[in-house]
Amino acid sequence: MIQLKLQVLQTRDWFLSLTSLLLLSSGFLTTPSLFVSASGIPPRIQHDLGHFLSPTALIVLPGSPRYAELAVRWQDGGRPNYGVIVVPATSKDVSESIKYANAHGIPFLAQSGGHGSWYGMSKLQDGMGIWMHNLSKVEVSHDGKSATLGGGLYVDDVIRELWAVGKQTTTGTCNCVGAVSPGLGGGHGFLQGQVGLATDQIISAQVVLADGRLVTVSDRSNQDLHWGLRGAGHNFGIVTEMQYKVYDATAKPEWSYEFFTFRGDQLEALYSLTNRMMRYQPAEVIHWSRWFKNMTVDPENAIIQYSITFNGPIDALNAYNRPIHALNPVDSFSGTTDYPGLAVVNGYTVDGYLCANGKGALSLYPIIVDDYDMPGTRKMYDLYNKMLHTVDAFAAGSFVLLEGYSWQAMQAVAAESTAYPHRDQRLLLSPLINFADVKNRTLATLATYWGEAMRTAGFGSNKRRSYVNYAKGSESLQSMYGYEPWRLQKLRQLKKKYDPTEQFGFFAPIK
Ligand SMILES: Cc1cc2nc3c(=O)[nH]c(=O)nc-3n(C[C@H](O)[C@H](O)[C@H](O)COP(=O)(O)OP(=O)(O)OC[C@H]3O[C@@H](n4cnc5c(N)ncnc54)[C@H](O)[C@@H]3O)c2cc1C
Ligand SMILES: *[C@@H]1O[C@H](CO)[C@@H](O)[C@H](O)[C@H]1NC(C)=O
Ligand SMILES: *[C@@H]1O[C@H](CO)[C@@H](O)[C@H](O)[C@H]1NC(C)=O
Ligand SMILES: *[C@@H]1O[C@H](CO)[C@@H](O)[C@H](O)[C@H]1NC(C)=O
Repeated sequence: MIQLKLQVLQTRDWFLSLTSLLLLSSGFLTTPSLFVSASGIPPRIQHDLGHFLSPTALIVLPGSPRYAELAVRWQDGGRPNYGVIVVPATSKDVSESIKYANAHGIPFLAQSGGHGSWYGMSKLQDGMGIWMHNLSKVEVSHDGKSATLGGGLYVDDVIRELWAVGKQTTTGTCNCVGAVSPGLGGGHGFLQGQVGLATDQIISAQVVLADGRLVTVSDRSNQDLHWGLRGAGHNFGIVTEMQYKVYDATAKPEWSYEFFTFRGDQLEALYSLTNRMMRYQPAEVIHWSRWFKNMTVDPENAIIQYSITFNGPIDALNAYNRPIHALNPVDSFSGTTDYPGLAVVNGYTVDGYLCANGKGALSLYPIIVDDYDMPGTRKMYDLYNKMLHTVDAFAAGSFVLLEGYSWQAMQAVAAESTAYPHRDQRLLLSPLINFADVKNRTLATLATYWGEAMRTAGFGSNKRRSYVNYAKGSESLQSMYGYEPWRLQKLRQLKKKYDPTEQFGFFAPIK
């Protein structure tokens, strides 16, 4: 006990200095936001900005009944504070809003799905929230090979509307998450092994830059930004619309799945088997697992819920899964569905538990690795159990997510052709710590302590790489944007060119 307290104290000091370091290095001190007081939003904004916006756009101030509804986010930790929320109806509305914000020294931030977990978003104080969800066009092109997608869509909109016309494409897997922002940092999903990451689908985009200019970004226009948008996109502008690759959904419509329950003592057997299966894992197969408490199965330690998702018939899945059955799981069940049904099977529908807003404070400690480091994975599991036993407040909502998507189409895209830097790595492991009382600093410090300890364990002997869309704020730039020196060099040049005053400084900013 005493030893733990000591560790926590040290961690707290470390955390506090880290926080001030992050503040200093974030550009906070050089952006106009510092000069905006608590009453920084001009009282005449509705009249003055409203004059330039389209008739269906809205300008919502705190105190208005719409405000609370629009300001809702998935979690309460790291929330930005909006002195005003603008709901644009067109790209031009976004452009006018940014010009107005710049003229009045108001910091601004786009919000689409409201799931971003970068804690630096809370540095936006008394700012302008640009609420994107009304930019919701889904329009398939005549040749059926692409679609125009609005900048504020949710994953659910894209899956549903494309499915209705026999199409599908890579999006995130959770239906309430924004459809655009995941792709700006990579974008992992069930189809990535077959057609590539979300970011690989972006043919062109309409982007409003830091100065309010609306530009087209593609391989012919602002080509350098097309590179940067695909992996570091949050840094350069607000995407109001994009032309996105879509695919025939009728050729291979059948999906099958199987869920297994294992106890923790099977961890080594299970994940070394996974490493072996990854040598022949087809593009149609996804290995996922989650660690959480199920008192019925194991009152002491977390269970391992392991799942295989397969774009194909169930008898082929059964054959593939034979070695997993040979490990004697506690329990298993299987079934078939279609592509939109995957969200139902995984509990990722908009009305499901995972999508419910108001999750208290929540932080992920993402790990990207080539394969499972066995001693590291064991250590991460043991730490997770120790944490659940030590901090009651973390027990209800914390879990560990281990995502093993297929990679074939992701790796078919040349690594240097986009800003997404982790194409060689296939696993995405994420301890996730959740607690209700957002204001409790002790819990925040404890979460950082346990989260970073689990993360360090999970990396094992691997280089520290993190998925920018899961990142919390303590990650190095190299770990999110790549270790090759030319990558950061190129990103810094782009930042200087397209966002010289660091207006886009609230989400994984390039420095
Ligand atoms: C439950 C859950 C499930 C997830 N599942 C997946 C998954 O399957 N695959 C995956 O890759 N990631 C996934 N993520 C991570 C996800 O990519 C990030 O959380 C992402 O930031 C969420 O985008 P959002 O629009 O919902 O969030 P927001 O908080 O609205 O936006 C996040 C950031 O993007 C910026 N932004 C929003 N809209 C735009 C725009 N139109 N143009 C430019 N910038 C914009 C915001 O200003 C902010 O900085 C998941 C996250 C959660 C919480
Ligand atoms: C979205 O736009 C429509 C009109 O196109 C408008 O009626 C509606 O109020 C807008 N939604 C929000 C949340 O402002
Ligand atoms: C725990 O596991 C048992 C057996 O697999 C299952 O029936 C039950 O639904 C699980 N409980 C929870 C809360 O997941
Ligand atoms: C914060 O959480 C800790 C650990 O659960 C608890 O001991 C403490 O009383 C809480 N503090 C406040 C102010 O609620």
